[in-house]
Amino acid sequence: MAARLIALFLALMSLGQGTLNRYETEMSLGGTLFLVNRDFVLASNYKPEDLVVPDVRLTYPDTTMRKEAAEALENMFAAAREEAGYTLIGVSGFRSYGQQASIYERKIQNAGKKQAMLLVAPPGASEHQLGLAMDLGTPQNQKLNEAFGDTEAGAWVRENCHRFGFIIRYKEEWTEITGYADEPWHVRYVGAEHAKRIYEMDIPLEYYVEMLRQVQYEQLTNEER
Ligand code: DAL
Ligand code: ZN
Repeated sequence: MAARLIALFLALMSLGQGTLNRYETEMSLGGTLFLVNRDFVLASNYKPEDLVVPDVRLTYPDTTMRKEAAEALENMFAAAREEAGYTLIGVSGFRSYGQQASIYERKIQNAGKKQAMLLVAPPGASEHQLGLAMDLGTPQNQKLNEAFGDTEAGAWVRENCHRFGFIIRYKEEWTEITGYADEPWHVRYVGAEHAKRIYEMDIPLEYYVEMLRQVQYEQLTNEER
């Protein structure tokens, strides 16, 4: 992991200043790199303004995502079908603060607090409130469990979602960093450029965003000298 991080850091350092300025916007709320987790939470009234229903097969017909992510999802679902013959289903997209609170409370009732914390984000801490996450299923399994990762469709998503701007956000080996168990079904939209880098470096979004911040800080302090 350390060698990967250093390589990424050097790669980012070599990027031009103009590009890095653009990252600043992407890392702000409303950008597609914005980091949400238990440390960086959203206001209870945050709701993206550009939610649309993606034109894909959905478990619930009122499922929405931000427009850019929805279009990328449509392209990914089409490629899964055309390139590999897999049918993907969008199971859960945007969730309001209140909806997330209900899911979290229900999980605590059913599984206990310790287990719930590994599986469901508390209200304000979910990427689903950003409108940039989608949980995926197949016609055989829409229940959002680890079995998705063992299916051929799940493997295709893991190896190909970056081409469409998505990352696998929660992996077992990142649990200490992300706070969550393995979620092979949860894809997060960050845009194709960043998704490709994150896929190649195989690092959690927390690390990637922190490194971009470091690079910006280094550049700003270098300019001041
Ligand atoms: N299951 C993910 C962590 C969420 O609730 O956002
Ligand atoms: Zn999810």
